[in-house]
Amino acid sequence: MFGGFGRYYENIVVLTGAGISAESGIATFRDTDGIWTRVDPEKVATPEALARDPDYCHAFYNAMRTELRKARPNAAHEALAELEQRHPGSVLVVTQNVDNLHRMAGTTSIIHMHGEMDRARCGHCGTVMDLACDLTTATVCPACGKAGLMRPHVVLFGEMPFEMERIYQALDSCDLFLSIGTSGNVYPAAGFVEHLRFRRRGAHTVELNLEPSDGHSLFHESRLGKATEVVPVYVQRLLTGI
Ligand code: OAD
Repeated sequence: MFGGFGRYYENIVVLTGAGISAESGIATFRDTDGIWTRVDPEKVATPEALARDPDYCHAFYNAMRTELRKARPNAAHEALAELEQRHPGSVLVVTQNVDNLHRMAGTTSIIHMHGEMDRARCGHCGTVMDLACDLTTATVCPACGKAGLMRPHVVLFGEMPFEMERIYQALDSCDLFLSIGTSGNVYPAAGFVEHLRFRRRGAHTVELNLEPSDGHSLFHESRLGKATEVVPVYVQRLLTGI
């Protein structure tokens, strides 16, 4: 797999954020029409908020889940699925998104570091399960039979994202890192490029985004534009070696 200038890339890690799903009709968080411009994250996206007003939080996540279920993958999700399929080395997508559009497009090598909206977790027994309906404070856990503590299996501010050890192992052995559609506001994901540049040098780092992210100066290369335009072009360049 050549990525321009004749360089061969064996292990690729792709970080994605809300921007890759924007053209599928899913609102981002921090753009002018973003979710956090309309809703205060302190009221819905912290463990304290969930404990204080679970009905309000459930209503927020139930509405979000309904919206996400209407969305379909776009050309950027499809290009990444094609990359995984055709690349002879490894491709791991690490997404901050709680939608399932990467999987719907065909990506199988994926870590949902901020969880998945279509899954629930029981606060009594810890069981994680697929979720087909809305959650309320009356929802009974099918595993332990207790009600009251079922919650979306998503990471709230102040909680540790999932599978961090596996993510850092992949970062430490990658030679190409792509960051797509993320503002670089939220750690630890925002720190991946810094990790690669200063702690484990060697990987080529590329940002594909509508506008320069907070950490844009840390990337070796940057392609600005809509994900559905820049991602397929960049993936074809990788696959053809041009
Ligand atoms: P943000 O809303 O912070 O950033 C979205 C980025 O996508 C911005 O840099 C936009 O410029 C870019 N963008 C918008 N439309 C685009 C398009 N069509 N093509 C390409 N790029 C586009 O979203 P994230 O960085 O994903 O966490 O936010 C990170 C985390 O903050 C989320 O996972 C969520 C949120 O709070 C939790 O809920 C834990």
